[in-house]
Amino acid sequence: MIEVRDLQVRYAGRLVAGVPELDVGAGECVAIVGESGSGKSTTLLSLLGLTENADISGHVRVCGVDVLTASPRRLREIRGARAALVMQSPQSALSPATRLGVLMRRALRLHGVGSGKDGRLDEIMAESVAAVMLDRAILRRYPHEISGGQAQRFAIALAIALGAEVILADEPTSALDVTVQAEVVGVLRRLREERDLALLLVSHDLALVSTIADRVLVMKDGEVVESGPAARVLTEPSHPYTRELLEALP
Ligand SMILES: Nc1ncnc2c1ncn2[C@@H]1O[C@H](COP(=O)(O)OP(=O)(O)OP(=O)(O)O)[C@@H](O)[C@H]1O
Ligand SMILES: [Mg+2]
Repeated sequence: MIEVRDLQVRYAGRLVAGVPELDVGAGECVAIVGESGSGKSTTLLSLLGLTENADISGHVRVCGVDVLTASPRRLREIRGARAALVMQSPQSALSPATRLGVLMRRALRLHGVGSGKDGRLDEIMAESVAAVMLDRAILRRYPHEISGGQAQRFAIALAIALGAEVILADEPTSALDVTVQAEVVGVLRRLREERDLALLLVSHDLALVSTIADRVLVMKDGEVVESGPAARVLTEPSHPYTRELLEALP
């Protein structure tokens, strides 16, 4: 679902994200970990062609689309519906004067989900919101009336409702308290198993990563310093920086 080779993202000539190889297949979860500013969010954004003013080289395929050469129209076809991005602070991306329910309904209609007069649309909306442990009442709220964690869960709900094949999630649980965090991770894990969802997760929470990821990429200063099966990287790290990250765990 995601295939990356020799990706390099530069801002004003400075390499901020270099990823030699990254693959996420259907039903797989890969996690990117690393300190603040190491290039994690930049990597995610570049996979959907969302980096502005960046120089990008390499090969990126998402849902069969060659992202770096695709037309804007072709990119719009995968963005949102087939490949959903759950951003680090998603509220700013939501239209401020539109209630979440209206927004979701519009997105679903646009992609032809739950069409017809049988009321399936309402059902799909209610189910997806419930799946991320949000109260249905949230659909009547405006984006500024919800918290960051709720906004991220709403973004996951939207992805579920749209039937996304790939979810790219940037710190999807760091704004949540531990119980809600566990619920959201449970939701993501279930989606993987039941719908073969491919998941690319950015997180600095290694404990969380160990419970969900098949493989891990460790980034530092814009480069991947280590990658491999989560079970190996998190127990026998080969790079000193990964060891440092693990030692910092409580
Ligand atoms: N639009 C931009 N223009 C110029 N530089 C940018 C831009 N976006 C990000 N950068 C730079 O790229 C580097 C990587 O940023 P990025 O947001 O990918 O880090 P991150 O690993 O996601 O960090 P965090 O954990 O804090 O979210 C940083 O040094 C940042 O200043
Ligand atoms: Mg980030």
